[in-house]
Amino acid sequence: MGYDILSKVIELTDSTEALEKRLKDVAYLLIHSFAFDQCAIYLLDQDKKVLTLAVAVGSKRGCQEEYREDEGLPGLAIKNGKPIFATQSKSAKELWQGGLDKGTNGFNTIVCYPIKDDWFHGVLYLKNKEKKTISIKQKRLLGVITLQLATAIKNYQCIVNLRDINTKMKDMQYRLVNAEKLLALGEMAASLAHEIKNPLVSIGGFAKRLSHQMSLDSPYMSYVDRIVKEVAKLEKLMDGIVHFSKEEGYAFSSEDINSIIEETIAFFEDDFKKNEITVIKELSLNVPKIDVDRQHLNLVFNNLMTNAIQAMEKGGRLTIQTYQEGNWIVAEIHDTGGGIDPKIMSNIFNPFYTTKETGTGLGLAITHSIITNHKGIIEVNNNIGVGVTFIIKLPLAGKEGRILEAS
Ligand SMILES: Nc1ncnc2c1ncn2[C@@H]1O[C@H](COP(=O)(O)OP(=O)(O)OP(=O)(O)O)[C@@H](O)[C@H]1O
Ligand SMILES: [Mg+2]
Repeated sequence: MGYDILSKVIELTDSTEALEKRLKDVAYLLIHSFAFDQCAIYLLDQDKKVLTLAVAVGSKRGCQEEYREDEGLPGLAIKNGKPIFATQSKSAKELWQGGLDKGTNGFNTIVCYPIKDDWFHGVLYLKNKEKKTISIKQKRLLGVITLQLATAIKNYQCIVNLRDINTKMKDMQYRLVNAEKLLALGEMAASLAHEIKNPLVSIGGFAKRLSHQMSLDSPYMSYVDRIVKEVAKLEKLMDGIVHFSKEEGYAFSSEDINSIIEETIAFFEDDFKKNEITVIKELSLNVPKIDVDRQHLNLVFNNLMTNAIQAMEKGGRLTIQTYQEGNWIVAEIHDTGGGIDPKIMSNIFNPFYTTKETGTGLGLAITHSIITNHKGIIEVNNNIGVGVTFIIKLPLAGKEGRILEAS
């Protein structure tokens, strides 16, 4: 009989079904083969240190959803690394009366077997209303079964981890290809922009002169106006493109990030008033100075605040926070401008992607490239219908991996 049960357990755990289905099938097999009223399998979350109910079959009475790693009989089985076999007898009285596990109420026989190989994966919890004896043979069999369960859970987790790694690698590969494309595009565009900028300045300048010379009712006035506006837009675009040129233009020095942010906020003071935006500053006084290019970082906050202002044309709240988190200095910029349509989320850092009539679509692409040149990270939390939070993380160690003296 033992061999039959074991080979069935192996067959069920080796199937290609989802882990939960496999465990459920084993649980059914166990309550029928060992004649128990309830069989529950808990999985151990190593990080959170909790045992979470994965499956329960038979009676659901006293079946807790979760046990802390040090709670109840499952916790005790993990702590001791040994199975608990108990019947409602004198020797096991304290298990019930001591209130160790409320889940045992109404049951008179319990088996709580840690599922482990070289580490713990969970607990197999069997309960029966009637008192019953569990033979040595059955105990041994349960030992082999829990070992088989441990192997199945471990293999499943390995597959999940592998899938996770695979997804991350694909994502990294995608980013790398994109970064290379950006770099190539940046280099080409920067030299092109340089060539175009000079004649553009002349065209814009002459168009402005023409408009000053013309009378306001001239039928050509609207054409000249259009030239001036379009040239201004092109100039903005060329300036943006030049920023893609590599790191050469960077001058790193020890700077206080709060003062850079204060400077940018002051620059937008009129826009905040005009759009009725309340600015909330939560700048930590304890952030140490870091090695950054002040001008480029100014541009980062300028781009992010411009976007926030444009998203809050009808008023709102702009919250800016700074703080230190481990080896990072973090700046968060929250707005209440309604958030970004999830359909366009994957495009917002792409150069030239814009949803605005007068936008160049370079603001976030430039911001991303500046943060990357600082060996930093930029993240977005999009709260649809509410607003966006851009999170900038800059390494405390600076771009060269050097820790600066806090001052
Ligand atoms: N805070 C925000 N709220 C809502 N949408 C945003 C926000 N920031 C960026 N976006 C979206 O991301 C797009 C790309 O932003 P990006 O700053 O790169 O370009 P832009 O603002 O359109 O143009 P530019 O900055 O060059 O004037 C925007 O067009 C907008 O749709
Ligand atoms: Mg922008």
